[in-house]
Amino acid sequence: MSEVRKAAIPVAGMGTRFLPVTKAVPKELLPVGTKPTLQIVIEEAAASGIEEVVLITSPDKQEITNFFRTDTAYDQKLKAAGKEALLDGLSDLLKKVKITTAPQENPKGLGHAILCAKEAVCDEPFIVILPDVLIESRTPCCKQLIDAYKKTGCAVNATEHTPKSQIHLYGIYDIERSENKFHYASAVIEKPSAEEAPSDLSVVGRYLFPAETFKILEETPPGKNNEIQLADAMNTLAKMGKMVAYEYEGRQFDTGDPAGFLQANIFYGYKNHKKEIEQFMEEVINHSQSAV
Ligand code: UTP
Repeated sequence: MSEVRKAAIPVAGMGTRFLPVTKAVPKELLPVGTKPTLQIVIEEAAASGIEEVVLITSPDKQEITNFFRTDTAYDQKLKAAGKEALLDGLSDLLKKVKITTAPQENPKGLGHAILCAKEAVCDEPFIVILPDVLIESRTPCCKQLIDAYKKTGCAVNATEHTPKSQIHLYGIYDIERSENKFHYASAVIEKPSAEEAPSDLSVVGRYLFPAETFKILEETPPGKNNEIQLADAMNTLAKMGKMVAYEYEGRQFDTGDPAGFLQANIFYGYKNHKKEIEQFMEEVINHSQSAV
Protein backbone atom coordinates (compact mmCIF):
# COMPACT_ATOMS: atom_id res chain seq x y z
CA MET A 1 0.00 0.00 0.00
CA SER A 2 1.48 3.40 -1.03
CA GLU A 3 2.27 5.99 1.63
CA VAL A 4 -0.11 8.95 1.82
CA ARG A 5 2.13 11.95 1.11
CA LYS A 6 -0.12 14.49 -0.58
CA ALA A 7 -3.19 16.52 0.26
CA ALA A 8 -5.43 18.43 -2.16
CA ILE A 9 -7.14 21.54 -0.79
CA PRO A 10 -9.75 23.23 -3.00
CA VAL A 11 -9.70 27.02 -2.59
CA ALA A 12 -11.28 28.17 -5.85
CA GLY A 13 -14.91 28.66 -4.73
CA MET A 14 -16.71 32.00 -4.72
CA GLY A 15 -17.41 32.18 -0.99
CA THR A 16 -20.82 33.75 -1.55
CA ARG A 17 -21.99 33.12 2.03
CA PHE A 18 -19.33 35.55 3.20
CA LEU A 19 -20.16 38.46 0.94
CA PRO A 20 -19.35 41.29 1.00
CA VAL A 21 -15.94 40.51 2.55
CA THR A 22 -15.16 37.75 0.00
CA LYS A 23 -15.38 40.31 -2.80
CA ALA A 24 -11.85 41.33 -1.73
CA VAL A 25 -10.59 38.65 0.67
CA PRO A 26 -10.74 34.91 -0.19
CA LYS A 27 -12.87 32.97 2.31
CA GLU A 28 -9.93 30.63 2.98
CA LEU A 29 -7.84 33.54 4.30
CA LEU A 30 -10.45 34.65 6.84
CA PRO A 31 -8.86 34.15 10.24
CA VAL A 32 -9.58 32.40 13.48
CA GLY A 33 -7.73 34.75 15.80
CA THR A 34 -4.94 36.04 13.56
CA LYS A 35 -4.39 32.85 11.56
CA PRO A 36 -6.15 32.09 8.24
CA THR A 37 -8.22 28.91 8.32
CA LEU A 38 -6.15 27.71 5.33
CA GLN A 39 -2.94 27.88 7.38
CA ILE A 40 -4.63 26.04 10.27
CA VAL A 41 -5.66 23.11 8.05
CA ILE A 42 -2.21 22.94 6.40
CA GLU A 43 -0.75 22.68 9.91
CA GLU A 44 -3.09 19.71 10.48
CA ALA A 45 -1.81 18.12 7.25
CA ALA A 46 1.83 18.68 8.25
CA ALA A 47 1.19 17.23 11.71
CA SER A 48 -0.26 14.16 9.95
CA GLY A 49 2.93 13.56 7.95
CA ILE A 50 1.75 15.12 4.65
CA GLU A 51 4.71 16.35 2.58
CA GLU A 52 2.97 18.22 -0.25
CA VAL A 53 -0.21 20.27 -0.36
CA VAL A 54 -1.80 20.93 -3.76
CA LEU A 55 -3.94 24.05 -3.62
CA ILE A 56 -6.67 24.08 -6.26
CA THR A 57 -6.71 27.77 -7.03
CA SER A 58 -8.78 30.30 -8.94
CA PRO A 59 -7.20 32.97 -11.18
CA ASP A 60 -9.40 35.47 -9.28
CA LYS A 61 -7.87 34.63 -5.88
CA GLN A 62 -4.16 35.51 -6.27
CA GLU A 63 -4.07 36.59 -2.61
CA ILE A 64 -3.91 32.90 -1.66
CA THR A 65 -0.71 32.16 -3.62
CA ASN A 66 0.75 35.47 -2.41
CA PHE A 67 0.14 34.41 1.18
CA PHE A 68 2.59 31.52 0.75
CA ARG A 69 5.28 33.58 -1.03
CA THR A 70 8.26 34.70 1.01
CA ASP A 71 9.48 37.41 -1.38
CA THR A 72 6.65 39.96 -1.50
CA ALA A 73 7.17 43.70 -0.96
CA TYR A 74 5.57 43.18 2.45
CA ASP A 75 8.12 40.45 3.33
CA GLN A 76 10.94 42.77 2.34
CA LYS A 77 9.59 45.65 4.46
CA LEU A 78 9.10 43.33 7.44
CA LYS A 79 12.68 42.11 7.08
CA ALA A 80 14.03 45.66 6.77
CA ALA A 81 12.21 46.48 10.02
CA GLY A 82 13.85 43.46 11.70
CA LYS A 83 10.44 41.91 12.34
CA GLU A 84 10.53 38.80 10.15
CA ALA A 85 10.40 36.59 13.27
CA LEU A 86 6.70 37.52 13.49
CA LEU A 87 6.19 35.17 10.56
CA ASP A 88 8.15 32.27 12.09
CA GLY A 89 5.04 30.09 12.46
CA LEU A 90 4.30 30.35 8.74
CA SER A 91 7.97 30.00 7.69
CA ASP A 92 8.38 26.87 9.82
CA LEU A 93 5.26 25.36 8.23
CA LEU A 94 6.60 26.06 4.73
CA LYS A 95 9.80 24.21 5.63
CA LYS A 96 7.75 21.12 6.51
CA VAL A 97 5.30 21.12 3.58
CA LYS A 98 5.78 21.90 -0.08
CA ILE A 99 2.94 24.01 -1.49
CA THR A 100 2.04 23.55 -5.15
CA THR A 101 -0.95 24.77 -7.14
CA ALA A 102 -3.38 23.39 -9.70
CA PRO A 103 -5.69 25.88 -11.45
CA GLN A 104 -9.48 25.59 -11.62
CA GLU A 105 -10.47 28.28 -14.14
CA ASN A 106 -14.14 28.32 -13.12
CA PRO A 107 -15.82 26.96 -9.98
CA LYS A 108 -17.64 23.94 -11.46
CA GLY A 109 -18.12 22.02 -8.23
CA LEU A 110 -16.05 20.24 -5.61
CA GLY A 111 -15.64 17.07 -7.70
CA HIS A 112 -14.38 19.13 -10.64
CA ALA A 113 -11.99 21.00 -8.31
CA ILE A 114 -10.48 17.73 -7.05
CA LEU A 115 -10.14 16.46 -10.63
CA CYS A 116 -8.03 19.57 -11.38
CA ALA A 117 -5.41 18.18 -8.93
CA LYS A 118 -5.02 14.93 -10.91
CA GLU A 119 -1.65 15.72 -12.53
CA ALA A 120 -0.17 17.19 -9.36
CA VAL A 121 -1.24 14.23 -7.22
CA CYS A 122 -0.30 11.57 -9.85
CA ASP A 123 -0.90 7.93 -9.12
CA GLU A 124 -1.02 8.08 -5.30
CA PRO A 125 -3.63 7.94 -2.57
CA PHE A 126 -4.34 11.47 -1.33
CA ILE A 127 -6.08 13.43 1.38
CA VAL A 128 -8.73 16.07 0.60
CA ILE A 129 -9.26 18.84 3.14
CA LEU A 130 -12.09 21.35 2.98
CA PRO A 131 -10.31 24.40 4.37
CA ASP A 132 -13.39 25.93 5.98
CA VAL A 133 -13.80 22.88 8.23
CA LEU A 134 -11.56 23.11 11.31
CA ILE A 135 -11.19 20.06 13.49
CA GLU A 136 -10.19 20.15 17.13
CA SER A 137 -8.91 16.69 18.11
CA ARG A 138 -6.23 14.92 20.10
CA THR A 139 -4.80 13.17 17.00
CA PRO A 140 -4.89 15.30 13.83
CA CYS A 141 -7.95 14.24 11.83
CA CYS A 142 -5.94 13.60 8.62
CA LYS A 143 -3.68 11.23 10.61
CA GLN A 144 -6.78 9.39 11.87
CA LEU A 145 -7.91 8.92 8.25
CA ILE A 146 -4.47 7.70 7.15
CA ASP A 147 -4.57 5.06 9.91
CA ALA A 148 -8.11 4.06 8.90
CA TYR A 149 -7.00 3.76 5.24
CA LYS A 150 -4.07 1.55 6.22
CA LYS A 151 -6.51 -0.72 8.04
CA THR A 152 -9.19 -0.93 5.34
CA GLY A 153 -7.54 -0.07 1.99
CA CYS A 154 -10.76 1.81 1.15
CA ALA A 155 -11.57 5.47 0.54
CA VAL A 156 -12.22 7.01 3.95
CA ASN A 157 -14.29 10.01 4.96
CA ALA A 158 -14.60 11.47 8.45
CA THR A 159 -18.11 11.13 9.82
CA GLU A 160 -20.04 11.94 12.97
CA HIS A 161 -23.52 11.50 14.40
CA THR A 162 -25.66 14.50 13.47
CA PRO A 163 -28.63 15.96 15.36
CA LYS A 164 -31.95 15.33 13.58
CA SER A 165 -32.54 19.07 13.15
CA GLN A 166 -29.35 19.39 11.04
CA ILE A 167 -29.51 16.28 8.88
CA HIS A 168 -31.02 18.17 5.91
CA LEU A 169 -27.82 20.28 5.71
CA TYR A 170 -25.35 17.42 5.06
CA GLY A 171 -24.51 14.42 2.93
CA ILE A 172 -25.73 11.39 4.89
CA TYR A 173 -24.51 7.81 4.67
CA ASP A 174 -26.49 4.67 4.05
CA ILE A 175 -24.53 2.03 5.94
CA GLU A 176 -24.09 -1.57 4.77
CA ARG A 177 -22.23 -2.81 7.88
CA SER A 178 -20.27 -1.36 10.78
CA GLU A 179 -17.22 -2.55 12.68
CA ASN A 180 -16.79 -0.25 15.65
CA LYS A 181 -16.03 3.19 14.24
CA PHE A 182 -15.67 1.90 10.68
CA HIS A 183 -18.93 2.16 8.73
CA TYR A 184 -18.89 0.55 5.27
CA ALA A 185 -21.23 2.69 3.15
CA SER A 186 -23.60 1.53 0.44
CA ALA A 187 -24.56 5.09 -0.61
CA VAL A 188 -24.21 8.78 0.18
CA ILE A 189 -27.40 10.82 0.00
CA GLU A 190 -27.11 14.57 -0.45
CA LYS A 191 -29.07 16.59 2.12
CA PRO A 192 -32.01 14.23 2.77
CA SER A 193 -34.88 15.22 5.07
CA ALA A 194 -34.53 13.84 8.60
CA GLU A 195 -37.41 11.42 7.83
CA GLU A 196 -35.82 10.07 4.63
CA ALA A 197 -32.27 9.85 5.97
CA PRO A 198 -31.00 6.24 6.23
CA SER A 199 -28.70 7.11 9.17
CA ASP A 200 -27.48 10.11 11.14
CA LEU A 201 -23.86 9.75 9.97
CA SER A 202 -22.86 12.83 8.00
CA VAL A 203 -20.05 13.71 5.61
CA VAL A 204 -17.34 15.79 7.35
CA GLY A 205 -14.81 17.76 5.27
CA ARG A 206 -11.82 15.38 5.54
CA TYR A 207 -11.36 12.58 3.02
CA LEU A 208 -8.75 10.10 1.87
CA PHE A 209 -9.09 8.77 -1.66
CA PRO A 210 -7.21 6.07 -3.57
CA ALA A 211 -5.73 7.25 -6.92
CA GLU A 212 -8.51 5.45 -8.87
CA THR A 213 -10.91 8.16 -7.63
CA PHE A 214 -9.65 10.48 -10.41
CA LYS A 215 -10.90 8.00 -13.04
CA ILE A 216 -14.25 7.80 -11.24
CA LEU A 217 -14.48 11.61 -11.19
CA GLU A 218 -13.69 11.74 -14.93
CA GLU A 219 -16.60 9.40 -15.55
CA THR A 220 -18.97 11.25 -13.19
CA PRO A 221 -21.49 13.34 -15.17
CA PRO A 222 -22.44 16.81 -13.94
CA GLY A 223 -25.07 16.49 -11.22
CA LYS A 224 -26.74 19.05 -8.97
CA ASN A 225 -26.34 22.67 -10.27
CA ASN A 226 -24.76 21.15 -13.40
CA GLU A 227 -21.54 20.72 -11.36
CA ILE A 228 -19.34 17.63 -10.93
CA GLN A 229 -20.17 16.60 -7.39
CA LEU A 230 -17.64 14.86 -5.15
CA ALA A 231 -20.59 13.18 -3.39
CA ASP A 232 -21.54 11.46 -6.68
CA ALA A 233 -18.03 9.95 -6.99
CA MET A 234 -18.22 8.87 -3.34
CA ASN A 235 -21.51 7.21 -4.14
CA THR A 236 -19.81 5.22 -6.92
CA LEU A 237 -17.07 4.17 -4.47
CA ALA A 238 -19.77 3.18 -1.97
CA LYS A 239 -21.55 1.04 -4.61
CA MET A 240 -18.17 -0.68 -5.27
CA GLY A 241 -17.94 -1.43 -1.50
CA LYS A 242 -14.89 0.83 -1.21
CA MET A 243 -16.18 3.77 0.83
CA VAL A 244 -15.71 3.81 4.60
CA ALA A 245 -17.23 6.49 6.83
CA TYR A 246 -14.89 6.66 9.80
CA GLU A 247 -16.16 8.07 13.10
CA TYR A 248 -13.26 10.37 13.90
CA GLU A 249 -12.35 11.56 17.38
CA GLY A 250 -12.77 15.32 17.68
CA ARG A 251 -15.10 18.24 17.07
CA GLN A 252 -15.61 20.17 13.86
CA PHE A 253 -16.25 23.87 13.24
CA ASP A 254 -17.81 24.72 9.88
CA THR A 255 -16.28 28.16 9.36
CA GLY A 256 -17.80 28.30 5.85
CA ASP A 257 -21.04 29.20 7.58
CA PRO A 258 -21.10 32.66 9.26
CA ALA A 259 -22.45 31.28 12.58
CA GLY A 260 -19.87 28.44 12.57
CA PHE A 261 -17.13 31.01 11.85
CA LEU A 262 -18.15 32.98 14.95
CA GLN A 263 -18.31 29.78 17.03
CA ALA A 264 -14.74 28.86 16.02
CA ASN A 265 -13.50 32.33 16.94
CA ILE A 266 -15.26 32.20 20.31
CA PHE A 267 -13.99 28.64 21.02
CA TYR A 268 -10.36 29.38 20.19
CA GLY A 269 -10.60 32.91 21.59
CA TYR A 270 -11.71 31.41 24.91
CA LYS A 271 -8.99 28.78 24.77
CA ASN A 272 -6.26 31.37 24.21
CA HIS A 273 -7.61 34.38 26.16
CA LYS A 274 -9.78 32.75 28.84
CA LYS A 275 -9.83 35.62 31.38
CA GLU A 276 -10.55 38.40 28.88
CA ILE A 277 -13.32 36.40 27.17
CA GLU A 278 -14.98 35.46 30.48
CA GLN A 279 -15.07 39.11 31.54
CA PHE A 280 -16.33 40.15 28.14
CA MET A 281 -19.07 37.50 28.04
CA GLU A 282 -20.30 38.70 31.42
CA GLU A 283 -20.55 42.21 30.00
CA VAL A 284 -22.36 40.94 26.88
CA ILE A 285 -24.91 38.99 28.98
CA ASN A 286 -25.50 41.94 31.37
CA HIS A 287 -25.87 44.29 28.43
CA SER A 288 -28.35 42.06 26.59
CA GLN A 289 -30.38 41.52 29.80
CA SER A 290 -30.57 45.27 30.54
CA ALA A 291 -31.55 45.91 26.89
CA VAL A 292 -34.59 43.52 27.16
P1 UTP B 1 -17.89 25.61 -0.38
O1 UTP B 1 -19.15 25.28 -1.07
O2 UTP B 1 -17.87 25.69 1.10
O3 UTP B 1 -17.26 26.98 -0.89
O4 UTP B 1 -16.76 24.62 -0.89
P2 UTP B 1 -17.85 28.13 -1.80
O5 UTP B 1 -18.59 27.58 -2.97
O6 UTP B 1 -16.70 29.04 -2.06
O7 UTP B 1 -18.81 28.83 -0.74
P3 UTP B 1 -20.26 29.49 -0.86
O8 UTP B 1 -21.24 28.36 -0.72
O9 UTP B 1 -20.35 30.23 -2.18
O10 UTP B 1 -20.30 30.42 0.33
C1 UTP B 1 -15.79 24.02 -0.05
C2 UTP B 1 -14.39 24.35 -0.58
O11 UTP B 1 -14.28 23.97 -1.94
C3 UTP B 1 -13.78 25.04 -2.71
C4 UTP B 1 -14.13 26.31 -1.95
O12 UTP B 1 -13.18 27.33 -2.23
C5 UTP B 1 -14.07 25.83 -0.50
O13 UTP B 1 -12.76 25.97 0.03
N1 UTP B 1 -14.40 24.96 -4.07
C6 UTP B 1 -15.74 24.84 -4.21
C7 UTP B 1 -13.57 24.96 -5.17
O14 UTP B 1 -12.32 25.05 -5.06
N2 UTP B 1 -14.14 24.89 -6.41
C8 UTP B 1 -15.47 24.77 -6.59
O15 UTP B 1 -15.92 24.69 -7.76
C9 UTP B 1 -16.30 24.76 -5.45
